[in-house]
Parts: sequence; C-alpha cells; structure tokens
Amino acid sequence: MGTTKLKIAVLYDIWDEEPEPEPEPEEVKTAKNGKNGKHGKVKPRKKKKKLKEDREEIFEALEKLGHEPFYQVLDGTKQSLFSLSRCGANLVFNLTESYAGDDTMDMNIAAYMDLIHMPYTGTGPRGLFLGQEKSVAKKLFQFHDIRTPFFATSYKGMLDHSHDIEFPLIVKPSSEDGSIGIDGDSVVGSVKELMERIHYIHEEFDSPALIEEYIDGREIYAAVLGNTNPEVLPLIELDLSKLPKGTPRVAGQDVKFDRETEAYKLTKSAVAEDLDEATVEKLTETARLAFGALKFRDYGRIDMRLSKKKEVFVIEANPNPWLASSQEFAMAAKKSGRNYTQLIGEIVDMAWSRAQS
Ligand SMILES: Nc1ncnc2c1ncn2[C@@H]1O[C@H](COP(=O)(O)OP(=O)(O)O)[C@@H](O)[C@H]1O
Ligand SMILES: [Mg+2]
Repeated sequence: MGTTKLKIAVLYDIWDEEPEPEPEPEEVKTAKNGKNGKHGKVKPRKKKKKLKEDREEIFEALEKLGHEPFYQVLDGTKQSLFSLSRCGANLVFNLTESYAGDDTMDMNIAAYMDLIHMPYTGTGPRGLFLGQEKSVAKKLFQFHDIRTPFFATSYKGMLDHSHDIEFPLIVKPSSEDGSIGIDGDSVVGSVKELMERIHYIHEEFDSPALIEEYIDGREIYAAVLGNTNPEVLPLIELDLSKLPKGTPRVAGQDVKFDRETEAYKLTKSAVAEDLDEATVEKLTETARLAFGALKFRDYGRIDMRLSKKKEVFVIEANPNPWLASSQEFAMAAKKSGRNYTQLIGEIVDMAWSRAQS
C-alpha cells in the first residue's frame, strides 16, 4: 500500500485500577433500594475489560505493511507525555481511550498531539468530544435530520432539555461508553423505576442521566471508513434475540465483555442478513450522515436500531472504535473484501496524507 516506510508509535493508555472501595453505608443503601439490587449483585464501577487487545494485531499488521511500529504508552504521568513528544514517530496509531482511566480525557490526548505537531490516526479532539457527549451529539443529529430517540437529560434535579418522552425508557450515563452503567435494569417502565435509575446513575457515576425512549428492534452497526466521501462498509448485526425472555434486549457490559456470562454466550455479531435494499440504503445513508455530522475522521462506528416499523434510529456514534480483528469493525472490513492488514494500512494512509497536507 503506502510506499513510505513510517516510524509508527502504537499509542495506548494504562492506569492503576482503583482498589474496590469498601461499601459505605450510603452505597449499600443505594444498592438495596435501587433496581440493581434485584439480582442480588451490585455492579462495581469498572472499566471495560477487553477480551483481546487490538494493539498486538495492529502492531503485526504495521510490520507486514513495511512500517516500523513501536509501542508507546500513556500512564497518566507527565513523563509519559514528555516521552510521547520525544518518541520520534512519524505517525501515532492512536488507541487511547482514556487518560489515567478518565474516559472524558481522550480528546485532550488528541489535542496534545495537535499542539506538539504529532500526526495521529482517527478522530481529532472536536469529534472525540462530540462522540463522548451523547446529548450534544443527539442535538446535532436533530439539526441534520438524523433520527435519534427522543430524550431528556437530567442532573440532580435539573433538567437540561426534554422531549415529551414516553415509556419504556432507557437511562444511561450521558458520557460513558463501553456499556458502562448499562444493564437489563436500565430499561424502565414506570416513574418509580425511572427515578431509581436516575438516582443510581448520579450516585454511581456522578454523571447526568440521559433518558431516552427505548427502541425495540434490531441492533445494527455500521463501520464507516474514509473522510471526504466516506465508505459505509457492510452492515453488522448484534443479535440479541436469544437473551432470556423477559430481559430487555440491550447490549450491556455482560453482552459486550463478560465472557463467562450467559448474556455473552447467547449473543453474537455477524454480517446483517435479510435486510431489504431500501432498509440497507437507509441505514447506510444515516451512518454516513452521522459520521460527518460529528466530524469523525478515518474510521468510526455508528450504532443504530431498526424498529419494527423499519425506522432507523442512531443510538450512538463511536469515533476510533475497537479495531480487534474479532470485532464488528474488522468484520465489516472483511466482508467488504479487505483483509485486516489492508484495513490498518488504509487507516494509516489516510492519517499520513492528512499530515502531509
Ligand atoms: N434508546 C435505546 N433503545 C434501545 N436500546 C438502546 C437504546 N440506547 C441504548 N440501547 C442499548 O444499550 C446499548 C449500549 O448503549 P450505548 O448508548 O451504545 O452505550 P455505550 O456508549 O456504553 O456503548 C446499545 O448497544 C443498545 O443495545
Ligand atoms: Mg454503544
């Protein structure tokens, strides 16, 4: 692919796991009263655990492409920031998702690299912000006539904005990802459940709650690759239909990461089958618009729901989505005829040509 041999820093972040806090009396009370107590377990506040790190795979692909990769890590210290500025890379393959474990800081890492003139793959600080702040993204979607579920956001009794929303609703932290804070109990059907869940989000994440209309339907992911006229790769479906009867069909942490759970085993992603042409077109066009509206670059994944009436809703847009070969993005790339190495090569070429311009 690219003819220039580049020194590429594969950049990722690590952080000290917070020790499990001793439950304080207040927390115990919340857990019991909150819906979370229903299954007799309290979800600890935890970061996503990846089944397989994508960095080794990307490193290998970069070698195959003839580049010179090396690992560079941000561990939350100033030294690691200095070290990045002096690492001598021509390009950074940006796999960071947080700084010192803080998810909201990924945009600052990108901004830092802009300041030190270090080119990197993927979305810049502005797009990372828009991808992170779901309620801001949803307002932008509306401006662009991209359908997204009606919503309200509330923080400790203050209402930022509200449509005239109707039950069932889903309650999420307004700026987390990796399904943090999302499980079967996120879907609420009554005012009591709603208030309990808002309380849980405030207590557990100290975050505003995003309260959205729950869209019953198929869960479709669109991988988008490119910049000026981005390509939407073949659609992927996360099949949630085998989840036990009575549990809402949501992709919570268990479905996504907790390998040992029933929910994980009963769900799987695959190339979406039996969608009619018009629906594929609608999903594809929606994903392309959403990618552009949020100023994503190089690659992104737009998560959608297709309702029973075949309405398309954008649930969430992810800049710099997980690139492990087992995951949806790589799956879609494969279906489009690209092997994994080619996919990584394209991302590098796009970032490198941006750096040259
Ligand atoms: N409005 C909604 N209607 C139906 N399901 C939803 C809705 N919002 C979220 N979900 C479910 O919860 C999952 C995680 O929500 P999402 O907003 O993507 O959070 P995260 O950023 O943590 O991935 C989605 O993949 C979907 O299964
Ligand atoms: Mg998501």
